Amino acid sequence: MTATPHARWERTVDQWTSVYREVYAEQGAGRFAGWTDFVTGRPIADSVMRAWLAWSVEAIARVRPRALLEIGGGTGMLVDALADSVDRYVFTDPVTGDRDHPHPGVTTVRAGAHDLARVLGADDRFDCVVVNSVVQYFPDCDYLAHVLAEIEPHLMPDAVVFLGDLRRGDLHLDQCRERARHREPFAAADRIDEVAAQIARTDPELTVTPAVIARAAAGLDDDWLLRVRPRSFDSDSELARYRFDALLKAGPGPAVRGPVRSVRNGLLTPTGPTPAEVEARGESVSLAPEDPYALWIGNDDDLWIDVADLASPETGGGR
Ligand SMILES: C[S@@+](CC[C@H](N)C(=O)[O-])C[C@H]1O[C@@H](n2cnc3c(N)ncnc32)[C@H](O)[C@@H]1O
Repeated sequence: MTATPHARWERTVDQWTSVYREVYAEQGAGRFAGWTDFVTGRPIADSVMRAWLAWSVEAIARVRPRALLEIGGGTGMLVDALADSVDRYVFTDPVTGDRDHPHPGVTTVRAGAHDLARVLGADDRFDCVVVNSVVQYFPDCDYLAHVLAEIEPHLMPDAVVFLGDLRRGDLHLDQCRERARHREPFAAADRIDEVAAQIARTDPELTVTPAVIARAAAGLDDDWLLRVRPRSFDSDSELARYRFDALLKAGPGPAVRGPVRSVRNGLLTPTGPTPAEVEARGESVSLAPEDPYALWIGNDDDLWIDVADLASPETGGGR
């Protein structure tokens, strides 16, 4: 007998919950508990994690949240940094959500992302929902669509949903090749491809593309816009090269869009500027939604894509 989708969801959520329960217990829930480099398999250096955290906090703070719902808050690094700047913070996590938080504006709830309809009150409204470094533990893209549908009634009209630190599916094989080369530095190219394919097959985490995110949001009641932001805090880190942030907000977009230029992404190709270099020139930058090696440069408003345009079945997928 094949498992129903919900039984499969529950199995995957239970597996990751057990993994995180062990990680947090073994490492005393230190700030950066459980963060290992995909390429080397070693713990990520504290300096890189500090830069990663500063980036995440700044990216969320830019949205200027007042009432924030965090899904999968983990060891609480984001709530610790952001609680002072918001009126209300609801922190949820299936493992750590039963711990109290010292800040009076923070409510903690033990729940998985699929279970929020049960724990949120009918009148709960948020102007920002943060799901940072959590989607990779979701069972599949339908689960993500389900989570977005569950939170939609709890969003204020100007709300932003921040899906952060997503693993990019159309760079997954490149990332696995990097890991294969680390394991077998002298191997020929076809051996590297073989090892990389094997690593990709056994990687238990969910990877997504901007198109997959758009499809997950396409079933929502409102029209939504998507911005695909790079995480360019450290050019040497796999956390910067292979991950991205997706921001969703209710549309419509501008009736007439200004020009957007496409250039090679210097984090991944020998030519072209890095996203940080573009931003240092005072320009806004996005990742091109359908070309993982390209950046888009343009006015901020013009870089938001209509979810419906990107959600068509022909656009590229993750796993
Ligand atoms: C890498 S930590 C991220 C913590 C935090 N968001 C941050 O950015 O520092 C991943 C967290 O996701 C939680 N998690 C895993 N599966 C989940 C699910 N289905 N729903 C909600 N949270 C989940 C885990 O318990 C873990 O605490």
